Amino acid sequence: MEFKPEATAEAVAQAKILLVDDEPKSLYALQQLLSQLEQNLMIAQSGEEALRLALKNDFAVILLDVRMPGIDGFETARLIRSRERSRLTPIIFLTAAADEMASMFRGYEVGAVDYLMKPVVPEVLKSKVAVFVELHRKTERLRESEEKLRLLAAHLISVREEERAHIAREIHDELGQVLTGLKMEVGWLAKRLKDKDLIDKTDSMGKLIDSTVQTVRKIATGLRPEMLDDMGLVAAVGWQAKEFQKRTGIRCRVKLPPEVKFDIDVSTTMFRIFQEVLTNVARHSRATRVDIELTVAADRIGLDVLDNGVGITDTDMSGKKSLGLLGMHERALLFGGELKITGTAGHGTRVTVSIPLKGKA
Ligand SMILES: Nc1ncnc2c1ncn2[C@@H]1O[C@H](COP(=O)(O)OP(=O)(O)OP(=O)(O)O)[C@@H](O)[C@H]1O
Ligand SMILES: [Mg+2]
Repeated sequence: MEFKPEATAEAVAQAKILLVDDEPKSLYALQQLLSQLEQNLMIAQSGEEALRLALKNDFAVILLDVRMPGIDGFETARLIRSRERSRLTPIIFLTAAADEMASMFRGYEVGAVDYLMKPVVPEVLKSKVAVFVELHRKTERLRESEEKLRLLAAHLISVREEERAHIAREIHDELGQVLTGLKMEVGWLAKRLKDKDLIDKTDSMGKLIDSTVQTVRKIATGLRPEMLDDMGLVAAVGWQAKEFQKRTGIRCRVKLPPEVKFDIDVSTTMFRIFQEVLTNVARHSRATRVDIELTVAADRIGLDVLDNGVGITDTDMSGKKSLGLLGMHERALLFGGELKITGTAGHGTRVTVSIPLKGKA
């Protein structure tokens, strides 16, 4: 992705403005007037033509003559608004009769529709259009920066996951090998020693090496469970639930489907979300029981975790510091999935995740 610190004046794309009038003379006058705004002006001489253009373009604003043969301005506006793409496109009606406007205005959302009397006052028209252009530009920028943030989040998630897997492997393989070697050397030494004190010493050295091997395993598994790579998601979820119960004393009831091989990235995503959910249960819920269900359908994989604790509140969820929840959402979104969290005071919290499977790997 290219990095642009701040869009410069030239880099800002021109906003598209649609001018609709059946009279060429009026169109020309509008064009002349609005050319000073230096935006991309498009024209249509009928409602039909305007509709076609609105299907293919995102307009910052549409200027619409009310009286036209064929579909008139109001009908054109109604049709434009009925389409998803142009549902919120601002429209300015140009009319010679003020009383026409009052009745039709009720049907529209406030703020996105306006009208001007003909003949239009150039300065008024220009400034109204300029406001919509500015609004359009800001919305566009917001959308772009949201997109960038999403890309960044996705990047960070995958980099972190790769790094963890890498470190886990290094620790496991390298340290594991050295420790095994060391254990053998100590064994060799012990066999050749006669002095009881020294033999006892090698004995305790051996024990120390054993416990170090255990610690190394624990660290590597914490970073990335081998189970996930070797046995798959279903086994890993079962294992994690058991570990969780052992560690916290919170009883886990787990319903698992038969093991299926998923794409490893989808498995990792689901597993990490599951871990995060359990961490929250342990930290916040004061639950005594958790019901966990993993389901696999032809086209999606689902996870449902229900605890019987205090119940998450809306304030908890919308909190600025709810980064754990945000991370879960982002992970799910990254694979086109969705995550839903609901809480009932005194009854517990439910987290439901669903991720589509694009052909199992
Ligand atoms: N199972 C749950 N039961 C009750 N409250 C919960 C539960 N899960 C989350 N919450 C509430 O939602 C808040 C936001 O959770 P989130 O995971 O985003 O943040 P956190 O756990 O406080 O910190 P972290 O960013 O380390 O995860 C928590 O602080 C907690 O108040
Ligand atoms: Mg959390």
